[in-house]
Amino acid sequence: MSLIAISNFKGGVGKTTTAVAIATLLSAEGNVLLIDADQNKSAIQWASYGHVPFDVRLEAEARPLLMSGKYQHVVIDSQAAPDAGEIAALCKGSDLLIVPTSPEPLAMTSTAKVAAEAKGHGRMMALVNMIPPKPQTDGIDAKGALERAGITCFNRLIRKSKVYIYASEAGADMSQLGGRMPTYWRDWLEVGKELSNVIE
Ligand SMILES: Nc1ncnc2c1ncn2[C@@H]1O[C@H](COP(=O)(O)OP(=O)(O)O)[C@@H](O)[C@H]1O
Ligand SMILES: [Mg+2]
Repeated sequence: MSLIAISNFKGGVGKTTTAVAIATLLSAEGNVLLIDADQNKSAIQWASYGHVPFDVRLEAEARPLLMSGKYQHVVIDSQAAPDAGEIAALCKGSDLLIVPTSPEPLAMTSTAKVAAEAKGHGRMMALVNMIPPKPQTDGIDAKGALERAGITCFNRLIRKSKVYIYASEAGADMSQLGGRMPTYWRDWLEVGKELSNVIE
């Protein structure tokens, strides 16, 4: 069983979106349980429409399912404002801690803090999300800055688009992102390839 945790101190950087996307990607390989550990219950809300290809449970309800042996992959959408000790614990307890970040300075600072807390406790990778279209270079600049700070990043950057807002409002199956123009899902397919190299 693989366990992937998603976290950042900063809210609104795409943690829930990333958790849903990663759970969708991993569903192609087996049964996936997404644990919604955030009081806002955003992942529960997303799944409530019945369109996602995985199971979602609150943290308090997840234990019996975890013990059932039904799941090949578990994804944790962690709480909105974790304290420092929780980042270390999440990193230690998972195969990979994914830290989504927007290229904004506040999110970048928060991501660097997460990386400092996670250091020495396991594997962590930042995922640069919400990047503006070319010729703006905010995304690649953010990735460069993180890497110079010694933080491993997914090579693929996730483009900014309203399709994400529509998808979360409709509880959409993310593999259908963008409808008949599935261009935005390709970002995640690439992330999925990188992920499979990390977790095997
Ligand atoms: N790549 C993106 N482009 C545009 N909007 C996005 C993107 N990723 C997420 N969003 C939107 O940003 C908001 C915050 O995302 P969410 O995943 O809920 O973040 P968090 O869980 O970190 O608070 C949501 O409205 C979501 O639809
Ligand atoms: Mg969230």
